[in-house]
Amino acid sequence: MYDIDPDIRRAQTLPGTFYNDPVVFERIKESLFARSWQMITGAEDQVKLPLDALPFRFMDGFIDEPLLLLRDAQGALNCLSNVCTHRGKIIVENPGKLDRGLVCGYHGRRFQLDGSFMSMPETQDMENFPCTDDNLTQLPIKQWRQFLFTSLDPIIPFEEWVEGLERKVDFLPLQDFRFAASRSRDYLVHANWALYCDNYLEGFHIPFLHKALAQSIDWGSYRTEPDTWGNCQVGVGKSGDVVFDLPKTHEDHGQQIAAYYFWLFPNIMFNFYPWGLSLNMVRPLQQNLTKVSFRAYVWDEKKLGAGAGGDIDLVEREDEAVVEQVQLGTRSRFYKHGRFSPRQERGVHQFHSIISKLI
Ligand code: FES
Ligand SMILES: [Fe+2]
Repeated sequence: MYDIDPDIRRAQTLPGTFYNDPVVFERIKESLFARSWQMITGAEDQVKLPLDALPFRFMDGFIDEPLLLLRDAQGALNCLSNVCTHRGKIIVENPGKLDRGLVCGYHGRRFQLDGSFMSMPETQDMENFPCTDDNLTQLPIKQWRQFLFTSLDPIIPFEEWVEGLERKVDFLPLQDFRFAASRSRDYLVHANWALYCDNYLEGFHIPFLHKALAQSIDWGSYRTEPDTWGNCQVGVGKSGDVVFDLPKTHEDHGQQIAAYYFWLFPNIMFNFYPWGLSLNMVRPLQQNLTKVSFRAYVWDEKKLGAGAGGDIDLVEREDEAVVEQVQLGTRSRFYKHGRFSPRQERGVHQFHSIISKLI
């Protein structure tokens, strides 16, 4: 559908229609998002003990697939379809304990906690029953540190997806990072989800758009390091800035790193600062409406408010304003497509290339 030249010097960006055509928006649901890894949130508090269960929807407000995360009697995690295989009722409606097992409240169909069909009343004369269609579909569940992920039909090997994170931030004690509700919020952006990602994926605009941030980042050393399914933008601080204390074995040891900005295809960002982590999940709602959820995890309170990770709210507002303007611009009959700066827009080129291969 789209052809992105692998040579960035010749390549054109995705065309304006990509961000505006409702047919394309529908298409990416299946070909891209249903096959992606998405984070399951809320599990740390609600699915701690055996028989705890948490119903949720995969990509709420977009794909809306009803799923159930639970711990079995041994404490192992399972992720299942939460739709009864009899006539389609949602099985578990609220978070809680599965003390009575997994039973559908409509006609009493029972399932094991791994989703396999167990029993049902009034099925005496049924033929070819039960069969595999009567089991609840089991979905993959993967974990990176304390974060859980699932996918409806994964095309990306999970370990490959997180390899950059693993390599760069292995030195950080993520288990000590504490979720900070007061620093976490959702933003509604009146723009296509991919425009939000495009903007995130280049630091080219920093000196133009983020005057305050530009004071604490050495823009000349700013770089993008690609992995197969994502990349890391490395923000080097100016001297005297708050930076990471990198161990001798780290590949960036000796450099003044103020921030690592990771993007994992298609829509998750892990921003590590010396104070902790700001996680962004970019959720498409409509073709020109996107919810961005910010979740903060604080590690070192004393470093909050300083350096590149200082006023991230201001940076966010500046980014949203520009992305909303770009949404209007890409709708113009006079806008066809753009070009990539070979030095500054490698991350955007990588993003467009992956999209072009999947849809
Ligand atoms: S819909 Fe679940 S038992 Fe009938
Ligand atoms: Fe920005």
